[in-house]
Amino acid sequence: MNRVLAIEFSRVTEAAALSAFSWIGRGNKHAADDVAVKAMRLVLNQIAINGEIIIGEGEIDEAPMLYIGERVGLLYSKEADITIAVDPIDGTRMTAMGQADAISVLAAGGKNSFLKAPDMYMEKLVVGGVEKGIIDLNLPLSENIKRIAKKKNKVFSQLTIAILAKPRHQQVIEEMQQLGLRVMMIPDGDVAAAVQCCLPNSEIDIMYGIGGAPEGVVAAAAVRALGGDMQARLILRDKVKGDTPENVELAQQEANRCKQMNVPVNRVLKLEELVRDDNIIFSATGITSGSLLKGVKRSGDLATTETLLIRGRSQTVRKIETMHYLSKKDPQLVSLM
Ligand code: FBP
Repeated sequence: MNRVLAIEFSRVTEAAALSAFSWIGRGNKHAADDVAVKAMRLVLNQIAINGEIIIGEGEIDEAPMLYIGERVGLLYSKEADITIAVDPIDGTRMTAMGQADAISVLAAGGKNSFLKAPDMYMEKLVVGGVEKGIIDLNLPLSENIKRIAKKKNKVFSQLTIAILAKPRHQQVIEEMQQLGLRVMMIPDGDVAAAVQCCLPNSEIDIMYGIGGAPEGVVAAAAVRALGGDMQARLILRDKVKGDTPENVELAQQEANRCKQMNVPVNRVLKLEELVRDDNIIFSATGITSGSLLKGVKRSGDLATTETLLIRGRSQTVRKIETMHYLSKKDPQLVSLM
């Protein structure tokens, strides 16, 4: 992956964030997602790459744009040489409700860089570089916490864990609080929390919980590029959301899909299986301001964005503040803003 491409990919998440801005706090998550997807696709197709979406908005029959397998970029040959995992908005609900930490995010790598995971649930445990090699999702979370505390030379009360604030996590949240950890409950958006764990001087030591598998792979790209560690496990829907007849049927479909794609359910996946090499680029742009990134600001013709751009091979982390004069931008893109 040519390093010159990094800046190109930052334009993609910037475009999605700029488009989503108009929908912040307007209560319509579908409209926000729709413009972000269109903007991302537009800009991806302006880059001189022979790319393929491997994690996107869903399968071809359920997503008209940025579907899994969609070819993007100006170049084309039978087989793509760049694979791309996108989440035009991680935190669509947060965007619609005007809550902090919604981001637009993308990871790009070579032909086989990423695990091709179906859109299902994934259990995730993320830590920073200091604790690399010591986590094990086969062990109880409390055992992992002991190991992390020992390695970081901290007592439990000095550790902070981020967990999605979902009913399925109530028990683990209470367990962590009883152990003495500080629990940051995030309404949505576990990619931003995972990235934060791996940044130096982060206030979050650990990210744990069951969230989306696509978001898990995108997050793993950043974790690998930042030198952190992550383990994950694909989990069927009925085990997460309850065994109603509908969930059991959906779980069966997920199990079939995993079989077709040759990915294991319920087996611990190491970071190296989620993201197979270091030659990757990760870009995230803030939509709403949060602890990772500033959100989009707009005043008349001028909009500003903040983007985190990471190159895995060199482990270079850039925070880019960009000023956009909308009257100078591609009118097609501006029509989405
Ligand atoms: P989207 O904004 O892309 O819908 O994702 C938000 C999110 O909170 C992810 O960060 C997380 O991985 C997943 O949804 C959790 O799923 P659910 O909302 O079903 O609990």
